[in-house]
Amino acid sequence: MKAFFRNLTILSLLLGMFASCSKDDDHVAEKKGAGKTAILLVTFGSSYPEPAKTFQNMEDNVKKAYPEADITWAFTSHIIRNILIKRGEGKFKDIDSPEEAMKKLKEQGYEKIAVQSLHVIPGSEFNDLKGKVDAFKAANSNIKMTLGNPLMNTNEDMKSLVDVMVKKFQADDQTVVMMGHGTEHAANDRYTRVNDFFKAVNEDFIVGTVEATPGIKEVKEAAALRPSKNILLMPLMSVAGDHANNDMAGEDADSWKSQLEGAGFTVTPRLKGLGDYNEVVAIWVKHLKVAVDALK
Ligand code: CO
Repeated sequence: MKAFFRNLTILSLLLGMFASCSKDDDHVAEKKGAGKTAILLVTFGSSYPEPAKTFQNMEDNVKKAYPEADITWAFTSHIIRNILIKRGEGKFKDIDSPEEAMKKLKEQGYEKIAVQSLHVIPGSEFNDLKGKVDAFKAANSNIKMTLGNPLMNTNEDMKSLVDVMVKKFQADDQTVVMMGHGTEHAANDRYTRVNDFFKAVNEDFIVGTVEATPGIKEVKEAAALRPSKNILLMPLMSVAGDHANNDMAGEDADSWKSQLEGAGFTVTPRLKGLGDYNEVVAIWVKHLKVAVDALK
């Protein structure tokens, strides 16, 4: 009897070991992130086709800088996520919110996550993201997580951006007008500051915003003081999405294109976002480097 029970105990122990081993193996197989670094790129998002290409270009640049890391995306806009999920095709058909993306990365076993803001200014969208990252960090002390700054964070960033854009777009007999987004947030000062930095390098570059100040009125006044009657009009936004296609280059009477034409200029819209220029993406990647280095 004793031997029977002893054997039974050994058998059940063996069975138990076997069961827990196979369970652990399953568990390990799920955790594709174990020992790896994840990079989470976060942007407002867009449902237009051109921005999807711009996002791909940004990802390609990040991949070049961090070939070993796993790169994933989140869009902050609930409306845009819903449009893309409903559409059900393309790279972003399953796009997550930042919270969903962070949760997934945790479930996949990543213990090092660098979140990179693809915002242009440290406004309310960036600060919302920062709040979400901080909350996630507080709830998951075993995961190292850092957040990279948006494009125009410091004066140094803005001067780098100015150098890139002036080199790319300065031309004889041309004024360059750039449409930023604009916000009620204090970070709206970035648009005035970057405008001043442009002015110091090349007065033919003028920055305005669609939602705040300086607006189209100030842009028209500044453009009137330039020698050229030709305007190259482009967004100072990560992608050429809804604002660029409609508020900037649209045919409506109140678009910037129409208003500038009404003021006597010949306007050529350029529907490319800042994320289409590798030299500009390099500034975001520089911020990402700070975030990745801080994971070590
Ligand atoms: Co907007």
